Amino acid sequence: MKKAVLVVSFGTSYDETRKKTIEVCEKKISAELSEYDFYRAYTSNMIIRKIKKRDGIEINNPLQALEKLYEEGYEEVIVQTLHIICGEEFNKLKAQIESYKPKFKKLVLGRPLLTYIDDYKEVVEALEVQIPKMENDEAVVFMGHGTFHESHAAYPAIEYMLRDHGINGYVGTVEGYPEIENVIKRLKENKVKIVNLMPLMLVAGDHAINDMAGDEEDSWKSILEEQGFEVKVHLQGLGENYKIQDKFVKHAYDCIKQLKELEVIC
Ligand code: CO
Repeated sequence: MKKAVLVVSFGTSYDETRKKTIEVCEKKISAELSEYDFYRAYTSNMIIRKIKKRDGIEINNPLQALEKLYEEGYEEVIVQTLHIICGEEFNKLKAQIESYKPKFKKLVLGRPLLTYIDDYKEVVEALEVQIPKMENDEAVVFMGHGTFHESHAAYPAIEYMLRDHGINGYVGTVEGYPEIENVIKRLKENKVKIVNLMPLMLVAGDHAINDMAGDEEDSWKSILEEQGFEVKVHLQGLGENYKIQDKFVKHAYDCIKQLKELEVIC
């Protein structure tokens, strides 16, 4: 039986961060699932177009990739997403996978980083390794992408878990709730003086480079400095964290487990 693993991410047009994040996750998954042929897809058609125009590299979106796998005669396909939350992007992918189920013997989708309660716990442990040792008046502020999708509560939930784990951490979002203003209010209440800024995103791309760490007056760095905080910028995507990489590998493995259980039932 021909088997493939398709790793799906939003994609990024920033080469430097892509090599350190998406590509490392892809390579780890591909190496671990050695019986499966490796394929890649990006969900962002905008990024796919940009890369094609700039670098002449063709990257499939998930539907194109699934069609290709079908045409090439694959029967068992594991799709592992590198999405962070079960948001809009992931749910769209889920629907696309559903529509392709009749075309494969086995087609299974691995879960995003933050799905079950245990995932949140494991992600907090992973984040711990990238957070510097902090003084009492020091905190870490994560920039999540944010969403208006019903999954928006993932952001306050991961913050709650960070605190429960003894980490003086805050999570704000670029597009959703909480916003940086909400975070600043609580930083002040808690007498924080030094802020470590980090993206809670797979890559350190446009949002991290510009919206988080940029020199424009509306970047989080500028806003925080304007409000009197000392800001230390940590410009690395979550995908650089080996524990986060391993977490995605684990989710892909869970797909194999799921397939084996299905066999037993059948
Ligand atoms: Co965005």
